[in-house]
Amino acid sequence: MGDLQDQGFATRAIHAGQEPDPTTGAVVPPIYAVSTFKQDGIGGLRGGYEYSRSANPTRTAWEECLASMEGGVRGFAFASGLAAEDTLLRTVCSPGDHVIIPGDAYGGTYRLFARVHQRWGLDFTPVPLHDLDAVRAAIRPATRMIWCETPTNPLLGIADLAALAQIARDAGALLGVDNTFASPYLQQPLSLGADVVMHSTTKYLGGHSDVVGGALVVTDGALGEQIGFHQNAMGAVAGPFDSWLTLRGAKTLAVRMDRHCANAEAVVDLLTGHQGVASVLYPGLPDHPGHAVAAKQMRAFGGMVSFRMRDGEAAAVAVCERTQLFTLGESLGGVESLIEHPARMTHASVAGSALEVPSDLVRLSVGIEDVADLLADLRDALG
Ligand SMILES: Cc1ncc(COP(=O)(O)O)c(C=O)c1O
Repeated sequence: MGDLQDQGFATRAIHAGQEPDPTTGAVVPPIYAVSTFKQDGIGGLRGGYEYSRSANPTRTAWEECLASMEGGVRGFAFASGLAAEDTLLRTVCSPGDHVIIPGDAYGGTYRLFARVHQRWGLDFTPVPLHDLDAVRAAIRPATRMIWCETPTNPLLGIADLAALAQIARDAGALLGVDNTFASPYLQQPLSLGADVVMHSTTKYLGGHSDVVGGALVVTDGALGEQIGFHQNAMGAVAGPFDSWLTLRGAKTLAVRMDRHCANAEAVVDLLTGHQGVASVLYPGLPDHPGHAVAAKQMRAFGGMVSFRMRDGEAAAVAVCERTQLFTLGESLGGVESLIEHPARMTHASVAGSALEVPSDLVRLSVGIEDVADLLADLRDALG
Protein backbone atom coordinates (compact mmCIF):
# COMPACT_ATOMS: atom_id res chain seq x y z
CA MET A 1 0.00 0.00 0.00
CA GLY A 2 1.38 3.45 -0.91
CA ASP A 3 1.02 6.59 1.19
CA LEU A 4 -2.45 6.55 2.76
CA GLN A 5 -2.88 10.26 2.10
CA ASP A 6 -2.74 9.53 -1.66
CA GLN A 7 -5.63 7.08 -1.40
CA GLY A 8 -9.31 7.83 -1.91
CA PHE A 9 -11.60 9.47 0.64
CA ALA A 10 -13.41 6.33 1.82
CA THR A 11 -10.11 4.46 2.22
CA ARG A 12 -8.73 7.23 4.42
CA ALA A 13 -11.92 7.43 6.48
CA ILE A 14 -11.64 3.71 7.22
CA HIS A 15 -7.87 3.47 7.76
CA ALA A 16 -6.32 6.80 8.78
CA GLY A 17 -5.20 6.75 12.41
CA GLN A 18 -6.46 3.19 12.65
CA GLU A 19 -3.49 0.86 12.42
CA PRO A 20 -4.31 -2.48 14.10
CA ASP A 21 -3.62 -2.24 17.84
CA PRO A 22 0.08 -3.09 18.43
CA THR A 23 -0.66 -5.11 21.58
CA THR A 24 -3.47 -7.37 20.36
CA GLY A 25 -3.92 -6.79 16.64
CA ALA A 26 -7.48 -5.50 17.21
CA VAL A 27 -8.53 -3.99 13.85
CA VAL A 28 -10.56 -1.27 15.55
CA PRO A 29 -8.86 1.19 17.93
CA PRO A 30 -9.84 0.18 21.48
CA ILE A 31 -11.67 2.54 23.82
CA TYR A 32 -8.91 3.63 26.19
CA ALA A 33 -11.16 4.35 29.18
CA VAL A 34 -8.31 5.70 31.27
CA SER A 35 -7.41 9.05 32.81
CA THR A 36 -3.70 8.59 33.52
CA PHE A 37 -0.75 6.59 32.17
CA LYS A 38 2.24 4.94 33.91
CA GLN A 39 5.36 6.98 33.32
CA ASP A 40 8.73 5.33 32.73
CA GLY A 41 10.56 7.58 35.15
CA ILE A 42 10.01 11.28 35.57
CA GLY A 43 9.59 12.88 32.17
CA GLY A 44 9.65 9.48 30.42
CA LEU A 45 6.32 8.95 28.69
CA ARG A 46 5.56 5.50 27.28
CA GLY A 47 3.92 6.13 23.89
CA GLY A 48 3.75 9.87 24.60
CA TYR A 49 0.69 9.72 26.85
CA GLU A 50 0.45 11.09 30.39
CA TYR A 51 -3.11 12.32 31.12
CA SER A 52 -6.24 11.99 28.95
CA ARG A 53 -7.14 15.66 28.83
CA SER A 54 -3.81 16.25 27.09
CA ALA A 55 -4.07 13.19 24.85
CA ASN A 56 -5.81 9.81 24.81
CA PRO A 57 -5.05 7.04 22.26
CA THR A 58 -8.70 6.64 21.16
CA ARG A 59 -8.97 10.39 20.65
CA THR A 60 -5.65 10.39 18.79
CA ALA A 61 -7.02 7.79 16.35
CA TRP A 62 -10.07 9.96 15.72
CA GLU A 63 -8.02 13.16 15.41
CA GLU A 64 -5.66 11.58 12.87
CA CYS A 65 -8.63 10.34 10.86
CA LEU A 66 -10.21 13.81 10.96
CA ALA A 67 -7.01 15.45 9.71
CA SER A 68 -6.74 12.93 6.89
CA MET A 69 -10.37 13.31 5.78
CA GLU A 70 -10.04 17.12 5.59
CA GLY A 71 -6.56 17.04 4.04
CA GLY A 72 -5.04 18.86 7.03
CA VAL A 73 -1.96 18.22 9.13
CA ARG A 74 -3.63 18.19 12.55
CA GLY A 75 -7.10 17.46 13.83
CA PHE A 76 -8.55 18.18 17.27
CA ALA A 77 -11.63 16.57 18.80
CA PHE A 78 -13.85 18.46 21.23
CA ALA A 79 -16.84 17.81 23.46
CA SER A 80 -19.16 19.67 21.03
CA GLY A 81 -19.07 21.82 17.92
CA LEU A 82 -19.50 24.95 20.02
CA ALA A 83 -16.60 23.91 22.27
CA ALA A 84 -14.47 23.67 19.11
CA GLU A 85 -15.58 27.14 17.97
CA ASP A 86 -14.97 28.63 21.41
CA THR A 87 -11.49 27.11 21.58
CA LEU A 88 -10.65 28.48 18.14
CA LEU A 89 -11.89 31.98 18.98
CA ARG A 90 -9.89 32.10 22.19
CA THR A 91 -6.83 30.74 20.37
CA VAL A 92 -6.75 33.23 17.49
CA CYS A 93 -8.62 36.31 18.77
CA SER A 94 -7.95 38.82 21.55
CA PRO A 95 -10.06 41.62 23.03
CA GLY A 96 -10.41 44.40 20.45
CA ASP A 97 -10.34 42.02 17.48
CA HIS A 98 -13.14 41.76 14.95
CA VAL A 99 -14.65 38.77 13.12
CA ILE A 100 -16.94 38.71 10.07
CA ILE A 101 -19.66 36.07 10.47
CA PRO A 102 -22.31 34.82 8.00
CA GLY A 103 -25.52 36.81 7.68
CA ASP A 104 -27.37 33.57 8.44
CA ALA A 105 -25.01 31.71 10.74
CA TYR A 106 -26.15 28.77 12.86
CA GLY A 107 -28.06 30.28 15.80
CA GLY A 108 -25.71 28.83 18.41
CA THR A 109 -22.71 30.33 16.65
CA TYR A 110 -24.39 33.73 16.64
CA ARG A 111 -25.19 33.33 20.34
CA LEU A 112 -21.56 32.44 21.09
CA PHE A 113 -20.43 35.68 19.45
CA ALA A 114 -23.26 37.94 20.66
CA ARG A 115 -23.76 36.69 24.23
CA VAL A 116 -20.36 35.30 25.21
CA HIS A 117 -17.40 36.64 23.25
CA GLN A 118 -18.73 40.15 22.76
CA ARG A 119 -18.66 40.58 26.56
CA TRP A 120 -14.94 39.81 26.43
CA GLY A 121 -14.29 42.48 23.81
CA LEU A 122 -14.56 40.54 20.55
CA ASP A 123 -16.51 42.53 17.97
CA PHE A 124 -18.30 40.91 15.03
CA THR A 125 -20.29 41.86 11.94
CA PRO A 126 -22.86 39.60 10.25
CA VAL A 127 -22.42 39.86 6.46
CA PRO A 128 -24.08 37.92 3.62
CA LEU A 129 -20.98 36.00 2.56
CA HIS A 130 -22.13 35.34 -1.01
CA ASP A 131 -21.71 39.10 -1.55
CA LEU A 132 -17.92 39.44 -1.85
CA ASP A 133 -18.06 43.25 -2.10
CA ALA A 134 -19.98 43.37 1.18
CA VAL A 135 -17.32 41.15 2.77
CA ARG A 136 -14.50 43.40 1.51
CA ALA A 137 -16.39 46.47 2.80
CA ALA A 138 -16.79 44.93 6.26
CA ILE A 139 -13.06 44.27 6.71
CA ARG A 140 -11.45 46.51 9.35
CA PRO A 141 -7.84 46.82 10.48
CA ALA A 142 -8.82 44.74 13.53
CA THR A 143 -10.45 41.95 11.47
CA ARG A 144 -8.79 38.74 12.59
CA MET A 145 -11.00 36.15 10.95
CA ILE A 146 -13.75 35.58 8.41
CA TRP A 147 -16.02 32.86 9.80
CA CYS A 148 -17.88 31.07 7.04
CA GLU A 149 -20.62 28.48 6.75
CA THR A 150 -21.39 27.00 3.35
CA PRO A 151 -24.02 25.75 2.87
CA THR A 152 -25.53 27.85 5.65
CA ASN A 153 -27.92 26.68 8.33
CA PRO A 154 -30.89 26.94 7.67
CA LEU A 155 -31.10 28.99 4.45
CA LEU A 156 -28.65 26.88 2.42
CA GLY A 157 -26.75 29.93 1.21
CA ILE A 158 -23.47 29.31 -0.60
CA ALA A 159 -20.21 31.23 -0.21
CA ASP A 160 -17.23 31.04 -2.56
CA LEU A 161 -14.49 29.55 -0.39
CA ALA A 162 -11.55 30.27 -2.72
CA ALA A 163 -12.63 33.92 -3.09
CA LEU A 164 -13.12 34.36 0.68
CA ALA A 165 -9.71 32.80 1.32
CA GLN A 166 -8.15 35.40 -0.97
CA ILE A 167 -10.00 38.27 0.76
CA ALA A 168 -8.88 36.96 4.15
CA ARG A 169 -5.27 36.60 3.01
CA ASP A 170 -5.24 40.13 1.55
CA ALA A 171 -6.55 41.45 4.88
CA GLY A 172 -4.03 39.49 6.96
CA ALA A 173 -6.93 37.56 8.49
CA LEU A 174 -7.77 33.86 8.76
CA LEU A 175 -10.60 32.03 7.02
CA GLY A 176 -12.41 29.60 9.31
CA VAL A 177 -15.06 27.35 7.77
CA ASP A 178 -17.86 25.52 9.53
CA ASN A 179 -18.04 22.50 7.21
CA THR A 180 -20.79 20.75 9.16
CA PHE A 181 -23.50 20.86 6.46
CA ALA A 182 -21.26 19.59 3.66
CA SER A 183 -19.06 17.10 5.56
CA PRO A 184 -15.48 16.48 4.40
CA TYR A 185 -16.76 14.01 1.80
CA LEU A 186 -18.57 16.73 -0.14
CA GLN A 187 -16.26 19.69 0.45
CA GLN A 188 -12.68 20.21 1.66
CA PRO A 189 -12.17 23.91 2.48
CA LEU A 190 -8.46 23.60 3.35
CA SER A 191 -7.74 22.65 -0.27
CA LEU A 192 -9.46 25.91 -1.32
CA GLY A 193 -7.31 28.09 0.93
CA ALA A 194 -9.14 28.04 4.28
CA ASP A 195 -6.95 28.10 7.40
CA VAL A 196 -9.23 26.18 9.77
CA VAL A 197 -12.13 23.79 9.29
CA MET A 198 -14.63 23.23 12.06
CA HIS A 199 -17.29 20.54 12.43
CA SER A 200 -20.14 19.75 14.67
CA THR A 201 -19.26 16.03 14.46
CA THR A 202 -22.64 15.48 16.10
CA LYS A 203 -24.00 15.67 12.55
CA TYR A 204 -22.84 13.83 9.39
CA LEU A 205 -19.46 12.70 10.73
CA GLY A 206 -20.97 10.83 13.69
CA GLY A 207 -23.98 10.18 11.50
CA HIS A 208 -26.24 8.25 13.87
CA SER A 209 -27.63 10.88 16.27
CA ASP A 210 -26.01 9.14 19.21
CA VAL A 211 -23.10 11.42 20.15
CA VAL A 212 -22.31 15.14 20.51
CA GLY A 213 -18.87 16.32 19.42
CA GLY A 214 -16.83 18.91 17.58
CA ALA A 215 -13.64 19.20 15.59
CA LEU A 216 -11.04 21.60 14.26
CA VAL A 217 -8.57 20.77 11.47
CA VAL A 218 -5.68 22.94 10.28
CA THR A 219 -2.92 22.85 7.67
CA ASP A 220 -0.45 25.10 9.44
CA GLY A 221 1.70 23.41 12.07
CA ALA A 222 2.20 26.57 14.15
CA LEU A 223 -1.55 27.24 14.33
CA GLY A 224 -1.98 23.57 15.20
CA GLU A 225 0.43 23.96 18.12
CA GLN A 226 -1.54 26.95 19.42
CA ILE A 227 -4.86 25.14 19.13
CA GLY A 228 -3.37 22.07 20.80
CA PHE A 229 -2.19 24.23 23.68
CA HIS A 230 -5.65 25.77 24.12
CA GLN A 231 -7.42 22.43 23.74
CA ASN A 232 -5.44 21.15 26.71
CA ALA A 233 -5.49 24.43 28.64
CA MET A 234 -9.26 24.90 28.26
CA GLY A 235 -10.11 21.21 28.47
CA ALA A 236 -13.31 20.77 26.41
CA VAL A 237 -11.99 17.54 24.88
CA ALA A 238 -13.89 14.60 23.38
CA GLY A 239 -13.83 11.64 25.76
CA PRO A 240 -12.63 8.19 24.64
CA PHE A 241 -16.13 6.71 24.27
CA ASP A 242 -17.35 9.64 22.19
CA SER A 243 -14.18 9.59 20.07
CA TRP A 244 -14.63 5.88 19.40
CA LEU A 245 -18.31 6.24 18.50
CA THR A 246 -17.67 9.16 16.16
CA LEU A 247 -14.76 7.37 14.49
CA ARG A 248 -17.00 4.36 13.95
CA GLY A 249 -19.63 6.58 12.34
CA ALA A 250 -17.14 8.37 10.11
CA LYS A 251 -16.04 5.11 8.44
CA THR A 252 -19.33 5.01 6.51
CA LEU A 253 -19.51 8.74 5.76
CA ALA A 254 -18.94 8.34 2.01
CA VAL A 255 -21.69 5.79 1.42
CA ARG A 256 -24.10 7.60 3.72
CA MET A 257 -23.52 10.96 2.01
CA ASP A 258 -24.13 9.46 -1.45
CA ARG A 259 -27.50 8.21 -0.22
CA HIS A 260 -28.33 11.43 1.68
CA CYS A 261 -27.70 13.43 -1.51
CA ALA A 262 -29.71 11.10 -3.77
CA ASN A 263 -32.66 11.10 -1.35
CA ALA A 264 -32.49 14.88 -0.96
CA GLU A 265 -32.67 15.35 -4.72
CA ALA A 266 -35.84 13.25 -4.88
CA VAL A 267 -37.35 15.26 -2.01
CA VAL A 268 -36.46 18.51 -3.80
CA ASP A 269 -38.25 17.24 -6.93
CA LEU A 270 -41.38 16.54 -4.91
CA LEU A 271 -41.32 19.92 -3.12
CA THR A 272 -40.70 22.02 -6.22
CA GLY A 273 -43.80 20.51 -7.84
CA HIS A 274 -46.11 21.04 -4.84
CA GLN A 275 -48.62 23.90 -4.90
CA GLY A 276 -48.38 24.53 -1.13
CA VAL A 277 -44.65 25.21 -1.33
CA ALA A 278 -43.61 28.78 -2.23
CA SER A 279 -39.90 28.11 -2.72
CA VAL A 280 -37.31 25.39 -2.20
CA LEU A 281 -33.82 26.26 -0.95
CA TYR A 282 -31.31 23.70 -2.22
CA PRO A 283 -27.93 24.48 -3.82
CA GLY A 284 -28.43 21.68 -6.35
CA LEU A 285 -31.28 23.60 -8.01
CA PRO A 286 -30.03 25.38 -11.15
CA ASP A 287 -31.86 28.57 -10.13
CA HIS A 288 -30.28 28.67 -6.65
CA PRO A 289 -28.09 31.82 -6.61
CA GLY A 290 -25.11 29.81 -5.33
CA HIS A 291 -25.54 26.85 -7.68
CA ALA A 292 -22.48 27.49 -9.89
CA VAL A 293 -20.20 28.06 -6.88
CA ALA A 294 -21.58 24.98 -5.11
CA ALA A 295 -21.03 22.89 -8.26
CA LYS A 296 -17.43 24.13 -8.36
CA GLN A 297 -16.52 23.43 -4.73
CA MET A 298 -18.77 20.54 -3.66
CA ARG A 299 -18.84 16.92 -4.85
CA ALA A 300 -22.66 16.92 -4.58
CA PHE A 301 -25.22 19.19 -2.95
CA GLY A 302 -25.88 17.55 0.40
CA GLY A 303 -28.74 16.13 2.41
CA MET A 304 -30.19 19.35 3.84
CA VAL A 305 -33.27 20.91 2.22
CA SER A 306 -35.25 23.95 3.36
CA PHE A 307 -38.52 25.24 1.94
CA ARG A 308 -41.00 28.05 2.51
CA MET A 309 -44.73 27.46 2.71
CA ARG A 310 -47.08 29.57 0.61
CA ASP A 311 -49.57 29.90 3.49
CA GLY A 312 -47.05 31.21 6.01
CA GLU A 313 -46.05 30.20 9.52
CA ALA A 314 -49.18 28.22 10.43
CA ALA A 315 -48.74 26.02 7.34
CA ALA A 316 -45.04 25.50 8.11
CA VAL A 317 -45.77 24.50 11.70
CA ALA A 318 -48.58 22.18 10.55
CA VAL A 319 -46.30 20.29 8.14
CA CYS A 320 -43.70 19.84 10.88
CA GLU A 321 -46.35 18.38 13.17
CA ARG A 322 -47.91 16.07 10.55
CA THR A 323 -44.96 14.02 9.27
CA GLN A 324 -44.58 10.53 10.70
CA LEU A 325 -41.29 9.24 9.31
CA PHE A 326 -39.57 12.64 9.32
CA THR A 327 -39.19 13.02 13.08
CA LEU A 328 -39.80 16.47 14.57
CA GLY A 329 -36.47 17.34 16.13
CA GLU A 330 -33.41 19.56 16.18
CA SER A 331 -30.01 18.48 14.88
CA LEU A 332 -29.28 16.93 11.50
CA GLY A 333 -27.01 14.61 9.59
CA GLY A 334 -28.12 11.31 11.13
CA VAL A 335 -29.34 8.27 9.20
CA GLU A 336 -32.94 9.10 10.18
CA SER A 337 -34.87 11.94 8.55
CA LEU A 338 -35.71 14.95 10.70
CA ILE A 339 -38.01 17.94 10.22
CA GLU A 340 -38.04 21.21 12.13
CA HIS A 341 -39.30 24.79 12.21
CA PRO A 342 -36.07 26.87 12.49
CA ALA A 343 -37.73 30.11 13.66
CA ARG A 344 -39.19 28.40 16.74
CA MET A 345 -36.54 25.71 17.25
CA THR A 346 -32.86 25.74 16.18
CA HIS A 347 -32.81 29.45 15.38
CA ALA A 348 -35.01 30.81 18.17
CA SER A 349 -31.83 32.39 19.60
CA VAL A 350 -31.56 34.78 16.60
CA ALA A 351 -35.16 36.08 16.85
CA GLY A 352 -35.15 39.88 16.71
CA SER A 353 -31.56 40.01 15.40
CA ALA A 354 -30.24 40.66 11.88
CA LEU A 355 -30.09 36.89 11.51
CA GLU A 356 -33.81 36.23 12.15
CA VAL A 357 -35.09 33.45 9.86
CA PRO A 358 -38.46 33.50 8.02
CA SER A 359 -41.33 32.05 10.02
CA ASP A 360 -42.72 30.15 6.99
CA LEU A 361 -39.47 28.14 6.70
CA VAL A 362 -39.25 24.37 7.22
CA ARG A 363 -35.89 22.56 7.37
CA LEU A 364 -35.40 18.90 6.49
CA SER A 365 -32.45 16.68 7.27
CA VAL A 366 -33.08 14.01 4.66
CA GLY A 367 -32.00 10.62 5.99
CA ILE A 368 -31.04 7.40 4.24
CA GLU A 369 -34.33 5.52 4.58
CA ASP A 370 -36.06 4.15 1.45
CA VAL A 371 -36.81 7.20 -0.61
CA ALA A 372 -40.33 6.07 -1.58
CA ASP A 373 -41.28 6.03 2.11
CA LEU A 374 -39.85 9.51 2.65
CA LEU A 375 -41.74 10.91 -0.33
CA ALA A 376 -45.02 9.30 0.77
CA ASP A 377 -44.62 10.79 4.25
CA LEU A 378 -44.00 14.29 2.90
CA ARG A 379 -46.86 14.03 0.39
CA ASP A 380 -49.26 13.10 3.22
CA ALA A 381 -48.01 15.90 5.48
CA LEU A 382 -48.18 18.57 2.79
CA GLY A 383 -51.73 17.55 1.88
C1 LIG B 1 -23.79 24.41 11.31
C2 LIG B 1 -23.59 24.12 12.77
N1 LIG B 1 -22.47 24.55 13.36
C3 LIG B 1 -22.23 24.32 14.68
C4 LIG B 1 -23.16 23.65 15.46
C5 LIG B 1 -22.89 23.45 16.92
O1 LIG B 1 -22.50 22.13 17.16
P1 LIG B 1 -22.81 21.34 18.53
O2 LIG B 1 -24.29 21.27 18.67
O3 LIG B 1 -22.15 20.01 18.30
O4 LIG B 1 -22.16 22.12 19.62
C6 LIG B 1 -24.33 23.19 14.87
C7 LIG B 1 -25.35 22.48 15.69
O5 LIG B 1 -26.47 22.32 15.30
C8 LIG B 1 -24.55 23.42 13.49
O6 LIG B 1 -25.67 23.02 12.87
